[in-house]
Amino acid sequence: MRIAGAPVAGQAVDPAAADLFDPEFHASGDPHALWAHLREHAPLHRQVLPDGRWFWSVTRYDDVCRVLGDHREFTSERGSVLTQLGHDDVSSGKMLVSTDPPRHSELRRPMNRKVTARALADWEDRIRRAVTEFLAPALDGGAWDVAERAYRLPMTVAGALMGVPEKDWDDLVRWTAMAAAPDDAEFRIGSPAATLAVAHHQTFEYFAAQVRERRKRSGEGPAEDLIGHLMTMSAGDAPLTDEEVIYNCYSILLGANATTPHTVSGTLLALSEHPDQLRKAAGDPDAVIPSLVEEGLRWTSPASSFLRYAVQDTELAGGRVAAGDAVAVWVGSANRDERVFADPYRFDVLRDDNRHIAFGYGPHYCLGAPLARITFRVLFDEFFRAFRSVETAGPARHLRSVFIAGLTHLPVVTAPR
Ligand code: HEM
Repeated sequence: MRIAGAPVAGQAVDPAAADLFDPEFHASGDPHALWAHLREHAPLHRQVLPDGRWFWSVTRYDDVCRVLGDHREFTSERGSVLTQLGHDDVSSGKMLVSTDPPRHSELRRPMNRKVTARALADWEDRIRRAVTEFLAPALDGGAWDVAERAYRLPMTVAGALMGVPEKDWDDLVRWTAMAAAPDDAEFRIGSPAATLAVAHHQTFEYFAAQVRERRKRSGEGPAEDLIGHLMTMSAGDAPLTDEEVIYNCYSILLGANATTPHTVSGTLLALSEHPDQLRKAAGDPDAVIPSLVEEGLRWTSPASSFLRYAVQDTELAGGRVAAGDAVAVWVGSANRDERVFADPYRFDVLRDDNRHIAFGYGPHYCLGAPLARITFRVLFDEFFRAFRSVETAGPARHLRSVFIAGLTHLPVVTAPR
């Protein structure tokens, strides 16, 4: 998916011709121009696919928040990713993201205990080591591919937190990249459907083996890590089944690996494109980093779309939606809504009142938001300690995905202080 600052000036928008379901449109088209058009002229937009499936799109901030915010009106239990359109979700009721309250709250409360900002305070040194390792190739002053390298960064944090051995991290990074963007040539093995099937099979098998292994060693006491926590915690009044443990390991890993890299590379790209903002950030990093992190999240909005199904007939965005209809929400659009953000296409490292919804909204608000925020804060802290600027050294390559907005390649040169 393309991370663009603003709609390409002068490009005509024909909503009937633009295909929000086409990953190539998000890689090389101009979704920001289409979203701006839809926000203004068609805030409830219907798209029919050649095979007859169809979905509504909502693009305004308030409408996106309403759909994400109320599970009684819009359920996640039939799948929450647009590419699943029309196929029921086998993880429904078992995996956090595809479960509605009240079961969702039973699962989320104990899971959350391990990933609050307070629980993660002890992890800051570990995160700093991961960030230092990530930035190491930049120190020699040559060009390096920040987007490609960023793919491994969240794994080194989430992998340690979950307690999976380092020797397996590269495989897990590859499988989660395949699951998140099966249409991208970089990750594709055969058809997108085959790519997704392989990615799911490998990841589920992997976590099933982790669970079996830990059960064998259970005499040694429960592991302190996140997988150990999932295996011993109670949700409601019972422990999780092995299937629930495995689904939620997958969800945590995908949540971390599919998104974090793109906010890192996308924010550095934005800084390289806005030298005045770069100067502000490099001039007083301590003062700027908190708002830079939030603006980077708004700007990149890596989790770009989500899916819900209407539970009952309702009015939405000035139109009528019937029970059972599929509704896609476009987070990248909501985060550029001129009704909420002053001058939304300006990348402003000091933006205040930044109410972006890059981490979602409502019951499914990102479980990993505290971890992601610590990672970005530490990353920009280390970055501006070592470097005063970033410039692109070759073309950016955008991810081919309807679900994730991101970059697969971004060669840069970073000048030392
Ligand atoms: C830039 C980084 C990240 C972004 C932009 C992001 C975005 C999101 C969004 C928008 C949702 C809502 C999904 C929905 O409404 O259906 C979500 C949920 C979730 N995220 Fe993240 N995420 C990020 C990092 C992480 C990390 C680091 C983790 C793991 C530690 C994680 C784990 C999860 C989980 C488990 C959920 C499901 C929560 C629930 O259903 O209650 N995410 N994320």
